[in-house]
Amino acid sequence: RELSIISAPFSGGQGKFGVEKGPRYMLKHGLQSRLEELGWSTELEATLDEAEFVTKLKKEKESSTGGSSVLDGGVKAKRADMVGEATEMVYKSVSKVVQAGRFPVTLGGDHSVAMGTVSAVLDKFPEAGVLWIDAHADINTIETTDSGNLHGCPVSFLMGLNQDIPGCPESLKWVPGNLSPKKIAFIGLRDIDAGEKKILKDLGISAFSMYHVDKYGINAVVEMAMKAIHPETNGEGPIMCSYDVDGVDPLYIPATGTPVRGGLTLREGLFVVERLAETGNLVALDVVECNPDLAIHDIHVSNTISAGCAIARCALGETLL
Ligand code: ARG
Ligand code: MN
Ligand code: MN
Repeated sequence: RELSIISAPFSGGQGKFGVEKGPRYMLKHGLQSRLEELGWSTELEATLDEAEFVTKLKKEKESSTGGSSVLDGGVKAKRADMVGEATEMVYKSVSKVVQAGRFPVTLGGDHSVAMGTVSAVLDKFPEAGVLWIDAHADINTIETTDSGNLHGCPVSFLMGLNQDIPGCPESLKWVPGNLSPKKIAFIGLRDIDAGEKKILKDLGISAFSMYHVDKYGINAVVEMAMKAIHPETNGEGPIMCSYDVDGVDPLYIPATGTPVRGGLTLREGLFVVERLAETGNLVALDVVECNPDLAIHDIHVSNTISAGCAIARCALGETLL
């Protein structure tokens, strides 16, 4: 029972500063000692430097392009160089942790960092399935994205859907792109772009929207999602959970970059990870997209950070009784 907390204070996968402060705020909230109390021996793993990346991003924004680059063939990907560099650093840190047999808890940062975390976990557990908790599917390709924000694209990179597109940024070619569409299931979806809907459908990807949560209840949805990623073994097998806090309703987690109403209640959101912990099959966790700067009251900051920490604690075995 050894884990490492990997800070991934990166905000270049989207346009709002502040999400890089997520890891620091969660650690300041006492996350590490709370995980120790659960019986884990913990270590902190540094990756990219928060201040260094903020400086780079600010420079990039002052430059004439504003970080937005339209590449060959009308392909869009903002700040691709920086996203490539940062996600590869995250990949190396998480690789070191998983290869040492430790459980990686990665704190974002925006969701582009999952290109690094999931790739590293798949190296160690090639049969792992991914549960992606999110209001969004983050499966836009560099062709389908409207925003050009790469935090809306990590899943397409993990599946290798961009590498053959002319104009695919060199900086992102390090991503192995070996996640099978059969090995991911989404929970909490409610804001999917038209291009993403088509990809989900064409590739037959398991996706449980808020409609399914309302229809079947969260327990049945988690069960179905686990069976979808491990069909041969009735849901048993290694699971990585990449948790975007905007999966939970902004009533509970307001300080996030792309809030969408009508989401999981805080209890439903915690149930998902409580249930995953109970299976004993969870091998890695990301908690991403907490942005304390987007709060309009102090209480929004503490609600968001305490909920983000609760997600991590529940995933690592904290129970109500
Ligand atoms: N689908 C939108 C886009 O491509 C929003 C993505 C939001 N992603 C996130 N990780 N919060 O820009
Ligand atoms: Mn999201
Ligand atoms: Mn996301």
